Amino acid sequence: MPEIFINGQPVPAGDGQTVLEVALANGFYIPHFCWHPQLSIAGNCRICTVQVEGREWVDIACNLPVSAGMNVLTDSELVREHRRGTMQFITLNHPVDCGICDKAGECTLQDYHYAYNGQASLSTVPKVHATKLHELSERIVIDNERCILCSRCVRFTHEVSGSKSLGILERGDRSLVRAAEDGSFDTDHYSDNVIDICPVGALLSRRFLHKVRVFYLQPTPSVCPGCERGCTVKLWHRKPEWHLRTLDAQQNRSIARITPLENLAVNGPWICNKGRDMAQILERPRAEVPMLKGRPARLDEALLAAQRLLGEAKRAVALVSSWGSNEELESFREHLDSRFATVFVKHDTLPAPGEPIEDQFLIRADKNPNRARARALFGDAQIALAEDTDLVFVWGEGFDFARIPRQAKIIFVNAWLQPENGYADVFFAASIQTERDGHYTNCEGVVSAFTACFAKGEAVVDAGMLFAALAEDAP
Ligand code: SF4
Ligand code: SF4
Ligand code: FES
Repeated sequence: MPEIFINGQPVPAGDGQTVLEVALANGFYIPHFCWHPQLSIAGNCRICTVQVEGREWVDIACNLPVSAGMNVLTDSELVREHRRGTMQFITLNHPVDCGICDKAGECTLQDYHYAYNGQASLSTVPKVHATKLHELSERIVIDNERCILCSRCVRFTHEVSGSKSLGILERGDRSLVRAAEDGSFDTDHYSDNVIDICPVGALLSRRFLHKVRVFYLQPTPSVCPGCERGCTVKLWHRKPEWHLRTLDAQQNRSIARITPLENLAVNGPWICNKGRDMAQILERPRAEVPMLKGRPARLDEALLAAQRLLGEAKRAVALVSSWGSNEELESFREHLDSRFATVFVKHDTLPAPGEPIEDQFLIRADKNPNRARARALFGDAQIALAEDTDLVFVWGEGFDFARIPRQAKIIFVNAWLQPENGYADVFFAASIQTERDGHYTNCEGVVSAFTACFAKGEAVVDAGMLFAALAEDAP
């Protein structure tokens, strides 16, 4: 293992590593636009220049292999001069419309301008204009004037998603990132990752465009419930200090966008487009109150009624949710398992029409986040309800109530506003993953945590606590 020096400090380096990799791993920051740890090296932006002591020229750190004993200078006068020049060049035709750019607040170009250039443009000729808000797909538009031609987005579609659906047309200041005309960018199920890896505000989500400034938002770590891969994600929502008071208060508890939370054990820095759209699932109309045969009831009334049904049942069957957290499933096992003749694990969600079923990358066929833990606790038997079943406990959506024997009583625990809620003898409105902390276990046994970001309704119950309460005998 060679030892190299960065600004005179010895640092360990691995054979075959580049100076940029070693520097970042050891706390020395070198700016970079085109380099990305999950993509091939393009070496086209030239902002990562460093000077090897003893040389009178600069090298690009992203493509400079380490060699034993080299002393890399990341901040020499020559390096500073080159970075200033590179920033002047990169922003030569940039529109500087940061005030209306979605990336403002998390844009590398803005940060580097202040850190490595700081002066106004030296150019005396008019800027070259390019297309603004050109549609690359149904999900993404590009502002070509902001694009710095780093080619990250192009390499992503060639090297990660495999659609090969983006390329660069023309040369020099006429260069334009464009989608292939066969529509393959529209059918790339991972396309929105290019929005994250674009270092500037060129690639824009059409759903998020101009909705909210990112500096009003904060991320909460969570897990995508869209399939059993269980990709870790950030749910972005308004910071408490930026809550709206007079305008639409619903925005204070809505998810503005979903982005990947890097997790090398599961999804790396990527998620699929369905994961980005999970707000539509998590923000469906909610059930807010318990009910007895469709009539709103107090929580204590519903608890008492359910405890009585459990106490009277001779042959009770439970269908547990594959959207329940590890903690909730374990609570059911601890408190209620022995009350049922059989416990089945059900699918809460099946693939939607037109949805990609499975691929070789992240997307899995089982569209439930925690079937692995549910199966480990309760087995994987096919659901079969015997004719003499007299109580069915249904936890979570997705079960066809027509399969329940006519004489059986029903206790139903569900988060969403659905017709079956009013059909149950006892109904409990349950919290969802944005309202409580918990964990899911993914298809490969990796456990990931999610954290609450919104308060639940007063009459909404956490399923884990409900199961403990239901285990008490009715007075
Ligand atoms: S659109 Fe963004 S990611 Fe793509 S080449 Fe331009 S700056 Fe790079
Ligand atoms: S692959 Fe599955 S878990 Fe990952 S983001 Fe897509 S739907 Fe969500
Ligand atoms: S990061 Fe090295 S040339 Fe772009």
